[in-house]
Amino acid sequence: MTENLMDKIVSLSKRRGFIFQSSDIYGGLANTWDYGPYGVELKNNVKRAWWKACVYERNDIYGMDAAILMHPKVWEASGHVENFFDLKSDCKQCRKRFKAEDLKDKNKCPECAGELTEARPFNLMFKTHQGPVEEASNIVYLRPETAQGMFVNFSNILDSRHPKLPFGMAQIGKAFRNEITPGNFTFRTREFEQMEIEYFVRPEEAEEQLKQWIDFRFNWYLSLGLKKDNLRLRPHDKNELAHYAKACVDVEYRFPFVTRGASSEGTWSELEGIANRADFDLRQHSQFSGKDLQYFDDQAKQKFYPYIIEPSGGVDRTVLAFLVDAYHEEKVREDTRVVLKFNKDLAPVKVAVLPLLRNRPEIVDLAKKISTDLKKSFVTVYDDTGAIGKLYRRQDEVGTLFCVTVDVQSLEDKQVTVRDRDTMLQDRVNIESLKEYLQDKFY
Ligand code: GAP
Repeated sequence: MTENLMDKIVSLSKRRGFIFQSSDIYGGLANTWDYGPYGVELKNNVKRAWWKACVYERNDIYGMDAAILMHPKVWEASGHVENFFDLKSDCKQCRKRFKAEDLKDKNKCPECAGELTEARPFNLMFKTHQGPVEEASNIVYLRPETAQGMFVNFSNILDSRHPKLPFGMAQIGKAFRNEITPGNFTFRTREFEQMEIEYFVRPEEAEEQLKQWIDFRFNWYLSLGLKKDNLRLRPHDKNELAHYAKACVDVEYRFPFVTRGASSEGTWSELEGIANRADFDLRQHSQFSGKDLQYFDDQAKQKFYPYIIEPSGGVDRTVLAFLVDAYHEEKVREDTRVVLKFNKDLAPVKVAVLPLLRNRPEIVDLAKKISTDLKKSFVTVYDDTGAIGKLYRRQDEVGTLFCVTVDVQSLEDKQVTVRDRDTMLQDRVNIESLKEYLQDKFY
């Protein structure tokens, strides 16, 4: 099962319209992916669920949407110009490139046994130029993390919203890294989205706040249905901490990746890192910008740099984990039913309306009318492009929660059949009360 589950997910994603290879008609751009009709719904639902839990349901977090391009000094202050690189070696024979830390033998190519070059630093930031002239003074970077957009707005939030510690900022947005070894579908790419919180706390409260955030974020994944057995926490060793971090714990998911040395149990890989960044960022930006980014405690009449707790997750990785986790194959008589058992908040489509007979205009008209009405309340699709068995199979494969079938009897008794995705049990429901029936199921 583990061995080819990823292949099944990649193939279903393309077949059903979740995720496509980018620029496919040109042979594709390696490790770059486009989200299709169901993919974009799933991704938006993941982002919405994150925003709801981290912004709307709390009183202490302010939303942000900062620009991707920032003043180049930001990346000097953040340490990315100096520290954000991987050491890499190239094979002189097959020309493949490897991360030095992944190599068992620093001199020998693991693919063709050819000779390797010495390891050289390779900065992971994408560089471009602002304005028409390509010169050194115009260099700007595509941000490698959304975090810095929040640090540089720290004083704007203080001045416009007057929050007291502890408080935080939240942002979802694109980030770019010129990764040396992208791969595993959407797991590691060069363009991706992050969901990040920067939570400002009193230094003496940082340890306790870190614990609370680890708990809060771990439970968020569980609350949306990820299986507990596939989720774990892993504290970083001191030697793997990023240059800014004092401590970090990763939330890891057990992905079914087939990598060298991986067990049949899957590969534990990072979904989110929750770090204590101490006062590194506010101090650095104060020093580089010349603006005082200390917090003034008006009771103690004291200024200090708050510490920052940072839960930083990847949207694409989280979407992939939910896709993998939702995938089920079930024996139904002689057949195998493939069904994506998404949590109700994440399912890309909530309701599908299907006419039992597509050559009976009265049935088709009634089904279309029901679908138009339901669309005002739920994400609903109408489909009459196949026989009912095929239509059910299609909806199961994209994780649609309920299928509403309109049949000959519906014309007489004004009732429809509602089929539950997971149990496949069917209820006969009055068209008049269909919306309330579905609402009861969702909320
Ligand atoms: N601001 C801290 C920060 O960026 P990170 O661990 O480098 O920390 C945070 O990144 C999250 O962003 C990761 O846990 C992962 O989910 C996601 N991420 C990082 N690099 C990625 C990549 N190349 N492709 C997809 N997601 C990535």
